[in-house]
Amino acid sequence: MSALSSTSQRYEDLKAQIEQKSFTKESMTKFIQQLPKIELHAHLNGCIRESTLASLASERNVKLSSLLHDLQQETHFTEEEKMNESPQEKVNKKRRSLLECFEIFTEIGLCVTDLVALKQICIEALEDFAKQGVVYLELRSTPKVLLDTMYGTKATKKDYIDTILKCMADFEEQDQERYKREMEDVKQNANASSQSLPRLPMTCRYIVSINRAESFEVAQEHTQLAMEYAKKSKYVVGLDLSGSPLKNSFTELEPCFRMAKDAGLKTSIHCGEIPCEKGVDNETDDALIEFSYRDTKKILDFEPDRLGHALLFTDEMYEALERGKKIPIECCPTSNVMTLELATHYEGDLVHGLRRHPRLSKWLENDYPCSINTDDPGIFNTDSSLEFLLLVDAFGFQNPARIVSIVMDSIDHAFESDDFKAKMTGLVTSKINGILY
Ligand code: IMP
Ligand code: ZN
Repeated sequence: MSALSSTSQRYEDLKAQIEQKSFTKESMTKFIQQLPKIELHAHLNGCIRESTLASLASERNVKLSSLLHDLQQETHFTEEEKMNESPQEKVNKKRRSLLECFEIFTEIGLCVTDLVALKQICIEALEDFAKQGVVYLELRSTPKVLLDTMYGTKATKKDYIDTILKCMADFEEQDQERYKREMEDVKQNANASSQSLPRLPMTCRYIVSINRAESFEVAQEHTQLAMEYAKKSKYVVGLDLSGSPLKNSFTELEPCFRMAKDAGLKTSIHCGEIPCEKGVDNETDDALIEFSYRDTKKILDFEPDRLGHALLFTDEMYEALERGKKIPIECCPTSNVMTLELATHYEGDLVHGLRRHPRLSKWLENDYPCSINTDDPGIFNTDSSLEFLLLVDAFGFQNPARIVSIVMDSIDHAFESDDFKAKMTGLVTSKINGILY
């Protein structure tokens, strides 16, 4: 039996065991918190902790918009929750429409101005993901020219990437050491329960982003950087297109992505954030819909390795994906509810908002390849465990088998080798067995 088929057999056995076990709400929550997770779609600057943003802003005399950063009590509550003295935690009280998110990114840019701040937000992001049991993280970020306060000079985009990669390498080393130490302790303590098994160490990878709002020349520069670093560092695995979907087009940037693909880099492209057809909302004008339709078609024809969000395609586009290559989708539940304003427009809370997600229930029903991610955990006030707990509540899962299958399938979407994925599958399967019994 090959390594891959033996791990997939173990995975089938595992699913069967989970389905036979009964779970209470509490045991399900605990299981999900301990579950090893795969995070494939997170933007570094969007991971900034609120407390870090506030302290960087105060150090730099940046005034953060109170509308965006103070709690907005009037939004996102159901009538029932307004009556309740302790509203449930799956309520997000912040204003986070797509446009508001881009205002926040501008403010973050005014605060993360030097390599020291970059290092701080990177280390904190890695710590936060690891704390939620993430075992494999692909973090993306747009290289920027910052300040090097140590020398009072400008830091280049290479310095930006080097800073992130150094944080990742140091973090991995420390996390591996911690794991070994804790395993030794467990071995010496014969009475240790499986519940006290140490958290698996986290593997970190970096995806270079191209921001749609920047010029073609900048996109080319980032593509070159991604290709150069991918040759010399195991950490750099792909190229992403993100930024405001109202700016620029994939059509113009396609040569960059083609070059990256030809060089063996993996690609992930944000798409479907604005409607591709009439009747989806009353806000998008016809010219923008036409633009979005043509641009989305171009992205789908290009066949990136993964699609970010993929929220508002036409039925025809979704059907073609189903029939065709089934390109894996990076779904970000809280981000989708907030940016599409599903919670403000309707019943107010994230659980009801997620039930109104334009596609997620269909993807789950059809077993469409789809990972669950945080996108911008600092901005959406979320984390990798909360995203799964939200799914459980919104779709009424009685046991975590479906969640486990999403995690196991996501390993396959990683921008990594088959060997790496087979090993990761084995590790995750063993850990799940450990937390089950
Ligand atoms: P950075 O690349 O580390 O600076 O992370 C923040 C950037 O990620 C933002 O300025 C956007 O370009 C991008 N980003 C974050 N969330 C989204 C999203 O939901 N849609 C599109 N782009 C996003
Ligand atoms: Zn994103």
